[in-house]
Amino acid sequence: MAGKRTAPSILAMKAKGELIVSVTAYDVTSGAIADASGVDLILVGDSLGNVVLGYDSTVGVTMADMVHHVRAARAGVKDALFIADLPFGSYQESPPQAVRSAVELMRAGAEGVKLEGAYVEQVAAITKAGIPVMGHVGLTPQSVHAFGGHKVQGKGEDGERIRGEACAIQDAGAFSIVLELMPAKLAGRITADLDIPTIGIGAGPHCDGQIQVFHDIMGLSERTFKHAKDFAQARKAMAEGMTQYSEEVRTGVFPSQENSF
Ligand code: KIV
Repeated sequence: MAGKRTAPSILAMKAKGELIVSVTAYDVTSGAIADASGVDLILVGDSLGNVVLGYDSTVGVTMADMVHHVRAARAGVKDALFIADLPFGSYQESPPQAVRSAVELMRAGAEGVKLEGAYVEQVAAITKAGIPVMGHVGLTPQSVHAFGGHKVQGKGEDGERIRGEACAIQDAGAFSIVLELMPAKLAGRITADLDIPTIGIGAGPHCDGQIQVFHDIMGLSERTFKHAKDFAQARKAMAEGMTQYSEEVRTGVFPSQENSF
């Protein structure tokens, strides 16, 4: 039994050569399912914009949305380290703005925050405030409009820039960093260069751990992604269950005596 994971214990896993398992969660049910399975880190990702709220990007997600879902998922998580995403517009302006936003998520129940991009002063300020910070480089979905779509990053000379950003984020005090949608070779190089663990999504097998969106690996999403895999067929099972429920209500099979008082 690994017990309660903390930012220092996740950091220590790299030195011990233990691969880190992470997944997103957005409410008490997904949080409890992920926590009970023994994952090391649960992220209330702003991907909730895509998979829970039905937006086409994470840009529309607000602090109020994040606080709402952090409170909801918190109730299901005991042992995993519980991290929350700082949403678009909540940290880019200045380090004080970033600290204020991070404090709000911590008050809602988070045990650390994640922010996208090379905002090293913000990472340093939040860390100084006693809040563990996860970095995030490569494809940073809040900048989807600048990238011109959800495209693999770091295939050319920008690979060196991404590596430099990761090093600067580590030096600013981050305890771990997400590497998203980049060639496996680049992710491997960054992983070898850093002392903090790299957590990959679409970044190949050489990272110190992996993170995935809950809906994308449980077969809940309508779309499929090359970087993900269905480890369950939840959408299919639920659709079949709903059809069966409708049929039994319409034919008078449910509720039976057994379901009655
Ligand atoms: O919002 C999110 O889900 C993320 C990931 C790293 C999966 O940032």
